Amino acid sequence: MKTTPLHPDFGVEVHGLDLKSVTAEDGYPELRRLFDRHSLLLFRDQPLNDAEHLRLGNLFGPIENRTENPGDRLSAVSNKAAEGGVTAADDLHTLNLIANQLWHTDSTFLPVPALANLLQARVVSSTGGETEFVSTRAGFKRLPRETQERLRRTSFHHDYKTSRGDIAEELTTLDIIQKWPEQHWRALWPNPETGEEALYIASHVYAVEGMDRAEARAWVKDLIAAMTPPEAIYTHAWRPGDMIIWDERATLHRGRPWPYKEERTLASICVTARDVDGLQAVRV
Ligand SMILES: [Fe+2]
Repeated sequence: MKTTPLHPDFGVEVHGLDLKSVTAEDGYPELRRLFDRHSLLLFRDQPLNDAEHLRLGNLFGPIENRTENPGDRLSAVSNKAAEGGVTAADDLHTLNLIANQLWHTDSTFLPVPALANLLQARVVSSTGGETEFVSTRAGFKRLPRETQERLRRTSFHHDYKTSRGDIAEELTTLDIIQKWPEQHWRALWPNPETGEEALYIASHVYAVEGMDRAEARAWVKDLIAAMTPPEAIYTHAWRPGDMIIWDERATLHRGRPWPYKEERTLASICVTARDVDGLQAVRV
């Protein structure tokens, strides 16, 4: 297994590993060490079917279900319409995908948040549709010392309706958005293996404990801006068969626009965080 860096802050491309052959004893321990250290792992030209994708996800932990269908653990991040063709640019389904273009961490609005996302490109658009990532571990280190101290005492309230309402009020009425009650997490998620702190923040944050609501949203906006200056971003232009596994505890990401008349389909699996991933440290 060889690695090449993707960005000075974080991320590596992993070569010489067949994802289909990884098992809990063989391959996974090394993969997990790379994941804890680099926060983002890229694998090229490794198309996996649904079963292989789920099997790989399961090595990291229990697979999350955040879709409408309880049996459906692999979610298609796609504008493909059930009746054929693609969903219209102003369709609520498309708008929900567009809400992913706000900087976020996946699943902070769930009762148990995610450790990782394993995202694979299936169908890509002719242009656009990149995913951008930043390290909130590196971003945290760059903050002034007094802000770091303050964040060690801070907790955020997350609600899925926040990010969706920022794109279109109507999105907040959808069952898949409505169904999650708000969650409350500490602002930092230290990695239990390395001890490094990372800012745990998302477009879903609507309040800061003990702070005026408007002031809180302005501070959250400033913090996300401090994490995401252009030089901190790794931009991934997808090719079919690309797989990226990222650490939700130590990154922020966002999708980029693409021509909505074209299909773009990524297959996503989120893995639920457990105590071994430092879950207790983020609980309030
Ligand atoms: Fe996401």
